[in-house]
Amino acid sequence: MSTEHNFQPKMIGIICNWCCYGGADLCGVSRFQYPPHIRLIRVMCSSRVDLLHIIRAFSNGIDGIFIGGCHLCDCHYVTQGNFNAFSMVQVCRKLMEHIGIYPERLRLEWVSAGEGIRFANFMNEYSAEVTKLGPLGKAESIDDKALAFKLETVKKLIPYIKLVLTQRLHVPLRTEEAYHGFFNSAEFERLFEELIADKLAISQITSLLREKSLSTGEIADSLGLSPSEVSRHMKSSSKQGLVRYDVNRKCYALA
Ligand code: FES
Repeated sequence: MSTEHNFQPKMIGIICNWCCYGGADLCGVSRFQYPPHIRLIRVMCSSRVDLLHIIRAFSNGIDGIFIGGCHLCDCHYVTQGNFNAFSMVQVCRKLMEHIGIYPERLRLEWVSAGEGIRFANFMNEYSAEVTKLGPLGKAESIDDKALAFKLETVKKLIPYIKLVLTQRLHVPLRTEEAYHGFFNSAEFERLFEELIADKLAISQITSLLREKSLSTGEIADSLGLSPSEVSRHMKSSSKQGLVRYDVNRKCYALA
């Protein structure tokens, strides 16, 4: 958490045109105050916010991202896009936690066009929360180079993660209970580890090996993994023909 004085976070709010923007508008007309450093971006629906937008924003030094949409089941589109936004945010927050970034830096809320005060309250609360967290990376004790590496490896995996989202993390019932139930379940944890975390670790390892050959211990130190985890990933990567083991030098290299 931040101990720096006068830290003003860089923040964006990506809000849907039909409800949340209406709430923001009412907030302005009603002269409710909220911090001016949160830059608002209007999109037609919260489902238009892509995982890539989030990762890019963090790569560009944004400290906190707020996504605002219509209340669940009130989305103005027949597909009820805000359920997609909900799933994307759950996975993104989990990914952030996984790579050592505070998941609180991404927040999703529902605001109707008649809830100007609710919008102002969220903005004030969230600004205070992100200010308390401190600057992205520094607050997490991750240096700039390591942060850029982590975000870049997530970015490369985004097309795959989107596929996992639609094919394997699909919740059949469009209800709030079903979505909360699934994303808080042990099943989601398991699928995340198996389908996303492992793939991310392999992607990070191959990115490191693109620079130079490394031993198991060196890979483990660079990525904060245990040597046994690295060995497990190397075994599956060798099977897939991605890496090879140099017996003489006792290190791994790209195949
Ligand atoms: Fe508001 Fe879809 S139109 S979330």
